[in-house]
Amino acid sequence: MYNFELEFALFLVCLSLIFLNLYRKKQTSLNLPPGNMGWPFLGETIAYLKPYAATTVGKFMEEHISRYGKIYKSHLFGEPTIVSADSGLNKFILQNEGRLFECSYPRSIGGILGKWSMLVLVGEMHKDMRIISLNFLSNSRLKTHLLREVEKHTLLVLSSWTHNSVIFAQDEAKKFTFNLMAEHIMSLEPGKPETEELKSEYITFMKGVVSAPLNFPGTAYRKALKSRSTILKFIEQKMEERILRKSEDENELLGWVLKNSNLSKEQILDLVLSLLFAGHETSSVAISLAIYFLQGCPTAVQQLREEHLEIGKMKKETGETELSWDDYKKMEFTQCVISETLRLGNVVRFLHRKAVKDVRYKGYDIPCGWKVLPVIAAVHLDETLFDQPWHFNPWRWQQPHESNSHGTTNPTSNNYFMPFGGGPRLCAGSELAKLEMAVFIHHLVLKFDWTLADSDQAFAFPFVDFPKGLPIKITVHTSS
Ligand code: HEM
Repeated sequence: MYNFELEFALFLVCLSLIFLNLYRKKQTSLNLPPGNMGWPFLGETIAYLKPYAATTVGKFMEEHISRYGKIYKSHLFGEPTIVSADSGLNKFILQNEGRLFECSYPRSIGGILGKWSMLVLVGEMHKDMRIISLNFLSNSRLKTHLLREVEKHTLLVLSSWTHNSVIFAQDEAKKFTFNLMAEHIMSLEPGKPETEELKSEYITFMKGVVSAPLNFPGTAYRKALKSRSTILKFIEQKMEERILRKSEDENELLGWVLKNSNLSKEQILDLVLSLLFAGHETSSVAISLAIYFLQGCPTAVQQLREEHLEIGKMKKETGETELSWDDYKKMEFTQCVISETLRLGNVVRFLHRKAVKDVRYKGYDIPCGWKVLPVIAAVHLDETLFDQPWHFNPWRWQQPHESNSHGTTNPTSNNYFMPFGGGPRLCAGSELAKLEMAVFIHHLVLKFDWTLADSDQAFAFPFVDFPKGLPIKITVHTSS
């Protein structure tokens, strides 16, 4: 018996050595991109995640690109990784979702957003959830429903701003996007105690989403898991109310999903939570970035004012008060400001994918199972593609077909500009996000002037945040 166990153990050791050897041989026969695998287990994760100014690619990325080129290997988030700052590879990765690559966020994200969250789902289930989200965020709903809601919530926030006061623009933007999503998803009214309770629970939840996934007493992650279950109980209660009333309001996502889908309770809860997350955090950061960039660019504010005064003048003539879809379509320079804000601010900096097959790209091998990070921010800030990429220059979006000084054509095309990702997982809320930004900017420039009340700037942690909350001094704009 003893001999058998010993022999079996030896057999296993030999087998592992053979596999290890084969794996090593395979690795050395591959043409992996250059790079550094860093420390055992930790790899280069700590250096990769070190905060840096959001309008740059950060020291880590800069040094790695200059040493190894735009495609390099590393060891990040506990896995061997290919990092791509190459526009062609980024596009290739996103367009081959489900065939060569697959969405692969760290396990902690699934733990907190839920296993049915759209960010972690792949395959058919992802498609089903995506169809529901797209349906709910469709252009026709934007026109008939959401535009009005967006304007209502913008005015609600701006009406609380008083002349000569200091406000924290990031908090105000969060208030706006949270109220909008909470009403659109569950018909929650702004300012009501239940909405405020959910908001404060949600703040704790968010701190955990972006913190290290350490599930010990007292950590932000543990607190966020607790908040997650409180928020889910809240949503569940709202679901039960609708089932009891037997009258699902199809104007809100919850009522619509209950009536029109076969999703289980658990799936609906994760869908609602992840839409609240995806729809609120990103666009509030984008609005804060626009406020920040514009205070440093008075010429753009002036041009925006001219555009929006003109729209306002025409509305006065027709006696309309609310913004219409036609008005929105007239906001051409505003769209340039939005694109430039997203390019320079990079709300989402990189995406998490893994190779599901062995892939060859530009002579490099990307082994099956390796993590792949398309860094969309690095392309947006690439000076071989965008002239002086570190400058806030909304006018660059007015000549999309001209060459830049490096002779590259059309840097503003979808090949290079991907703030909302791309391929089958392109952001479901991209049109809503642009609408929110445009309507907010419309009322902001017509009603207020603003300057920084204290020095602050956006940092990538890698989630983008203004450490001081972007304090601005506001004065009522006199020509309004
Ligand atoms: C400026 C604001 C926004 C930015 C920069 C942004 C960016 C992104 C990016 C880059 C992705 C792709 C993630 C990936 O491929 O791994 C994404 C996905 C998604 N976004 Fe947004 N987003 C914004 C606003 C919104 C809004 C307002 C909503 C509305 C609820 C939303 C809902 C979603 C959803 C549901 C997905 C998952 C799509 C899928 O997996 O099929 N986003 N977003």
